[in-house]
Amino acid sequence: MQKNDKKNIILTGFMGTGKTTVGRLLAKQLGREFIDTDELIQARHGRSIPEIFLELGETPFRKMEADIVQELAEREELVISTGGRLMLDPANVVALSRNGRVFCLVATPEEILARLRDDKDHRRPLLEVPNPGERIVELLQLRQKGYQRFPQVMTNEKQPTDVTRDLVDLIHSDPKRFAIDHPAEPYDFVVGGGLLPFIRQLAGVDGQLVIITDSQVGELYAASCGAVDHVITIPTGRQHKTLETVQTIYDQLLQIGFDRTGTIVSLGGSVMGDIAGFVAATYMRGVDFVQCPTSLLDMVDTSVGGKTALDLPQGKNLIGFFKQPTAVIADVATLQTLPAEELASGMAEVIKHGLIADTDLLRKVENGNWRWERGTIPPPLSELQSLVAQAIQIKIVIVQEDPYEHGRRSILNLGHTFAHAIEQVSKYSIRHGEAVAMGLVAAANLSARLDHCSLAVQERIELALSKVGLPTRIPKHLSPESLLKAMSRDKKRLAGQLRFVLLRDVGQAFVTDAVPDPAILATLQEVSQ
Ligand SMILES: NC(=O)c1ccc[n+]([C@@H]2O[C@H](COP(=O)([O-])OP(=O)(O)OC[C@H]3O[C@@H](n4cnc5c(N)ncnc54)[C@H](O)[C@@H]3O)[C@@H](O)[C@H]2O)c1
Ligand SMILES: [Zn+2]
Repeated sequence: MQKNDKKNIILTGFMGTGKTTVGRLLAKQLGREFIDTDELIQARHGRSIPEIFLELGETPFRKMEADIVQELAEREELVISTGGRLMLDPANVVALSRNGRVFCLVATPEEILARLRDDKDHRRPLLEVPNPGERIVELLQLRQKGYQRFPQVMTNEKQPTDVTRDLVDLIHSDPKRFAIDHPAEPYDFVVGGGLLPFIRQLAGVDGQLVIITDSQVGELYAASCGAVDHVITIPTGRQHKTLETVQTIYDQLLQIGFDRTGTIVSLGGSVMGDIAGFVAATYMRGVDFVQCPTSLLDMVDTSVGGKTALDLPQGKNLIGFFKQPTAVIADVATLQTLPAEELASGMAEVIKHGLIADTDLLRKVENGNWRWERGTIPPPLSELQSLVAQAIQIKIVIVQEDPYEHGRRSILNLGHTFAHAIEQVSKYSIRHGEAVAMGLVAAANLSARLDHCSLAVQERIELALSKVGLPTRIPKHLSPESLLKAMSRDKKRLAGQLRFVLLRDVGQAFVTDAVPDPAILATLQEVSQ
């Protein structure tokens, strides 16, 4: 897709990450013109950047940057290195993303400090403070959110030629595409790094394209999405999964004259997918729907299967449709900004998929480093891409076998009979993925109790969950009796079909409804803390 792309390549990142050196090498390799915004400003105004700051101040400098951005946004086939703060301004992001792909070069604070000290050619006011190392950490933290919205390329311990090679790989690497064969209409699941600028092309959308997103995700990514006609933003949070929210979206769609030929794109986590999917299923009796999941949980689980649901005052997820998307586009670069606890929550579903059908996936979780706290650098995008691809493939295979959830698909509910009860009794104060983690431990415990597998399976699951930062015990205040009661209520609702998914071993799950209450109670007691 991208080899003949004329879009500009834009490099951003903190000072000392090598934007100019790498940009120059990259331009040479791609046979493109190179532009460094700082150098251009200095040449045009006949003064160095520190002089401009000193004589004119910061505001005129930012204006010079913004003018150059407008100019460059009209051109193509450039490699552009930007000043350290240029791409932190949303207006500049909007302008340059329209016709460009942005990459962020990153390095650890220690490496940045060492490089700035080695660079004797430039005056660095940053080094002239009492503790430059601390100042770099502070500034990086302040700017982290702005930088992380773009695909990141690690530069530590690499020569500029290595970084250039990584970038070329990323620019040319094709995303992975899986065809999902659904009886209503087949669609594609695409996973890759830096896909948001290409939603229209990847999903094959011609008509009007409206993005529905939440305030948190929209602030980070709406500007990076290419060729969008309109963005509707709703407040973030599960409490907004209501008919009232849907009504406000209908109002805005009508106001802009959105009709049946248009496409709705959901940009956000599973909550956003539920809301936007509901709107797409109902607006003018249904319009095309593209899912752009930005949470791990949504990428590896919820975005495939076509379920949408809203809450009513009487209860959660009480109304909804099966609405199949025309495409799912999972841009793993967005995972870089996902809060640590949301990331862990998604890992619960990855582990679940490993337990259902793929021991190699479980080993990948066990052997990798899948935890990133604030301030640390996430794994390379290629690793994230392969984790998501492997996890979602399991769901795709199972959903294809049973598109309307009549049989085999219930195997995907491993740990969920417990998890739903835990969520309910905790009044939804426990995150879905955390409840699933506890549920997986309980499912393994119950399997061992009924002699389907050994206790070693439970131990292995607990280790994997702890490694990614997930809980393995049900909090004590959720009493086993109240959890069992919640399960029986569910059973009534499901017309007597309360089913458990149990394990014979890792990678071998099966469904049963023959589980006696005393065994469930004993398991709940044992996995409580
Ligand atoms: N697996 C299931 O059984 C299932 C099915 C349908 C719905 N759900 C529901 O989905 C919800 C959980 O979904 P989820 O984990 O996708 O979370 P979510 O949609 O609730 O998103 C979590 C938070 O992360 C933010 N966020 C998302 N992507 C981000 C990014 N890239 N960068 C920064 N912030 C980002 C969102 O704004 C939100 O505040 C639960 O309410 C659960 O009940 C679960
Ligand atoms: Zn789940």
